[in-house]
Amino acid sequence: MHVSEPAYWSERYRSGQTGWDLGAETPVFQALLHQGGFPVHPHPEQEPPTVIVPGCGYGHDAILLARAGYRVIAVDFAPEPLHVLRQRAAAEKLPVEVLCEDLFRLPERLTEPADMVLEYTCYCAIDPQRRPEYFRVLCRLLRPGGWLVGLFFPLSTEPPVSGPPFPVQEAEVVALATQAGLRLQSRQLPLTSHPARLGREVLLMFQKAECD
Ligand SMILES: C[S@@+](CC[C@H](N)C(=O)[O-])C[C@H]1O[C@@H](n2cnc3c(N)ncnc32)[C@H](O)[C@@H]1O
Repeated sequence: MHVSEPAYWSERYRSGQTGWDLGAETPVFQALLHQGGFPVHPHPEQEPPTVIVPGCGYGHDAILLARAGYRVIAVDFAPEPLHVLRQRAAAEKLPVEVLCEDLFRLPERLTEPADMVLEYTCYCAIDPQRRPEYFRVLCRLLRPGGWLVGLFFPLSTEPPVSGPPFPVQEAEVVALATQAGLRLQSRQLPLTSHPARLGREVLLMFQKAECD
C-alpha cells in the first residue's frame, strides 16, 4: 500500500499505529491562540473566518479553532478518525465541516476560498514527489490575501527518502510555497512545542498575494 492511498492510512488507524497523534491540541497552536498570534482572527460582528485543516486526522486542532470562533473545514481521506471528529464536533455543536476527501481534489470540491489553511503533519505524510502539487493546492484553496499557517515537522537535513513521516527541509518548504504563489511573512522556532518535538519543527506563515 502507498501513502497516496486512503487504504494505507485507514490500516494505520485501524491497527492503532498512529504515533503522530498527540492525543490533544498542538501546543504551538494553543499558545498562538492565547497570544493572538494567528494572522486571521474572528470578530464578534463579522462572519467567522474559514480555516481548512488538511490531513486533519482526529482533528484536535480543528476542534481547538472551532472553539475559538473559526469556521473549520477539516479534511482527511481516511474515514476512521473522521467518525470520532464528527462525534466530538456534534457533541459540542461546533462549526466543523468534516470532509472525507483526497486533498488533491479539494479545489474542485470547494467553491469558497478560505481565509486560512492550517498545516500540521500532513506535508510530511504525503509522497515527497507530490510536494510541489501540495503547495499549489493549498494556494488555490486560499482567497487572495489569505494565509497558510504551517508547523513543519520533522525538520531534518536528510533527503525525504523514507517515511512517513518524510523528513522536512525548511529551505524546500519555502521554495515550493514561493513557487506556488505564497510569500513568507514570518518564521519562528517555537519554544512551546510538545517536548518530544521541541527544536524539530518550524512555524512558517505565508500569505497569498492580494491580486491573484
Ligand atoms: C501523519 S497524519 C497527521 C494527522 C493530524 N494532522 C495530526 O497531527 O494528528 C497524516 C494524515 O493525513 C491524511 N492524508 C494523507 N494524504 C492525504 C490526502 N491526499 N488527502 C487527505 N488526507 C490525507 C492521512 O489520512 C492522515 O490522517
